[in-house]
Amino acid sequence: MTDPRVALVTGAAQGLGLATARRLAEDGLRVVLTDVNRGLLEASVAELVGAGLDVAEAVLDVTDDASVDECLRSLGHLDVLVNNAGVISRTPAQDIDSLRWDFEMAVNLGGTMRCSRAAYPLLVRSDSAAIVNLASVGSTFGLPQRLSYSTAKTGIVGLTRTLAAEWGRDGIRVNAVAPGYIETPMMLSGFDTGALDREILLRRTPLGRFGRSEEIAAAISFLTGPDASFVNGVVLEVDGGITVDGTFQDLSRTDTAAR
Ligand SMILES: NC(=O)c1ccc[n+]([C@@H]2O[C@H](COP(=O)([O-])OP(=O)(O)OC[C@H]3O[C@@H](n4cnc5c(N)ncnc54)[C@H](O)[C@@H]3O)[C@@H](O)[C@H]2O)c1
Repeated sequence: MTDPRVALVTGAAQGLGLATARRLAEDGLRVVLTDVNRGLLEASVAELVGAGLDVAEAVLDVTDDASVDECLRSLGHLDVLVNNAGVISRTPAQDIDSLRWDFEMAVNLGGTMRCSRAAYPLLVRSDSAAIVNLASVGSTFGLPQRLSYSTAKTGIVGLTRTLAAEWGRDGIRVNAVAPGYIETPMMLSGFDTGALDREILLRRTPLGRFGRSEEIAAAISFLTGPDASFVNGVVLEVDGGITVDGTFQDLSRTDTAAR
């Protein structure tokens, strides 16, 4: 029997990262869940272990070179990296605090670069190496009051394409998933602050509902798996069609002439 492929997921203590770790483990990979939040990470890993999945944990802060390098060095083997850790804040652009800007860049964009860089020596030795980065609707839309988040997530697209072009030649596929609105703690915080309006979002999304974490995990499973063996440098939108919708009238009106 061959050894299972090994995956590392950042920001895996909750939300999309946790759902992705679960899915990859269910696919038969050995998954290392990492997060900066030790308590939450331990609880989540215990749950997956209880479900009989082959998982391990490591505390890893994606903003910290030493933390990232030490964790990746300790692995010995790696086939899949999912750069999922992310943070968001909401402030009018004219009031943005420089430290907060730097922090969000360091997590959302710098973290992806840092983990990918540290993973390279391991991935280059794998015969099925794949990276998936988490983009966002903020990679397509300008998101008011989320200047640093939207800028970083747009940067993820450039980072993904550049690494795909450079490392594809080393046998490492690099792609991104751009989730729409998925019910996780990050999105729910937008309802709490009033930055997101549930009804408007549902109306704007052609499929008329929010996404589920498992649907993002499924896309990541595809992109990191053998069925995507010739897919490199794409940004796969998993967003119910919100970023392609050009509806600018009220479709609930019954007079078809209005369409
Ligand atoms: N939920 C959505 O609707 C949505 C939409 C588009 C994109 N995304 C992206 O998907 C990813 C996951 O989002 P989510 O909704 O699950 O978020 P979340 O807030 O629920 O979880 C994020 C996780 O990242 C961890 N984290 C934060 N800073 C870290 C650091 N410095 N080092 C390591 N871990 C850190 C947190 O502890 C947390 O466990 C993010 O990159 C986010 O931008 C989410």
